[in-house]
Amino acid sequence: MAALLSIEAIHTAYGLSKVLFGITADIHQGECVCLLGRNGVGKSTTMRSIMGLTVPSQGKIVWKGEDITGWAPHRIARAGIGFVPEDRRVFAELSVWENLDIAARAARRPGPWTIEALFDLFPQLAAIQSRMGGFLSGGEQQMLTIARTLMTNPDLLLLDEPSEGLAPLVVDMLLEKIGDLKKGGLTILLAEQGLAFSLALADRVYVLEKGEVRYTGPSSALRDDKDLADRLLAL
Ligand SMILES: Nc1ncnc2c1ncn2[C@@H]1O[C@H](COP(=O)(O)OP(=O)(O)O)[C@@H](O)[C@H]1O
Ligand SMILES: [Mg+2]
Repeated sequence: MAALLSIEAIHTAYGLSKVLFGITADIHQGECVCLLGRNGVGKSTTMRSIMGLTVPSQGKIVWKGEDITGWAPHRIARAGIGFVPEDRRVFAELSVWENLDIAARAARRPGPWTIEALFDLFPQLAAIQSRMGGFLSGGEQQMLTIARTLMTNPDLLLLDEPSEGLAPLVVDMLLEKIGDLKKGGLTILLAEQGLAFSLALADRVYVLEKGEVRYTGPSSALRDDKDLADRLLAL
């Protein structure tokens, strides 16, 4: 079966500073795939390249069989790729409900996600729906940014380090929620530094190092071979 998304040998730079050196990866419908690697290896840049926020200088991004390299970010989003960036920025002056409502108005794709459906998924957000975005905890912000992106009914969700900086109990809660999304059939590309979080969710992993894919295989290979995991991540 053809991949939903193919990243084909992309090279991406910020000005003269080259960051990605031929990253190749693919994601099939219904899979959860993780870009795993330490800080600075190029995980976010890979996601930004998929979204058209930094356009690759070589290689291409193929979405549902179509070359989308160079498309404007809003067009890529409208084609069905939802991005939850690592900065978790929400509108501080708007309530939780208003943050979601704005996303609903911007979303032009039909699909299952409504504010009600998202409040079912995240009852914690329903409980604080009139609170201002500027008064949310890190975990609440993360739930809200995920919920806001789901409002656009994406076929693929890019999640950039969702667990970063969150307390262990909040991380467990997020793991469960992202697991629910996966069980619901959503295709997910995750970027993570932590092995435990990624192995708990991902079917397959790509381990990145200095802008290249150093290893790829099923999560079970890393789960079963601790030496391999240590070697890959203790670089
Ligand atoms: N806006 C930017 N301008 C210049 N260099 C950047 C920028 N963003 C990231 N980089 C550099 O690109 C490399 C990869 O960064 P990034 O993709 O954010 O890695 P990761 O998400 O894996 O931590 C790092 O060396 C980082 O310093
Ligand atoms: Mg990053």
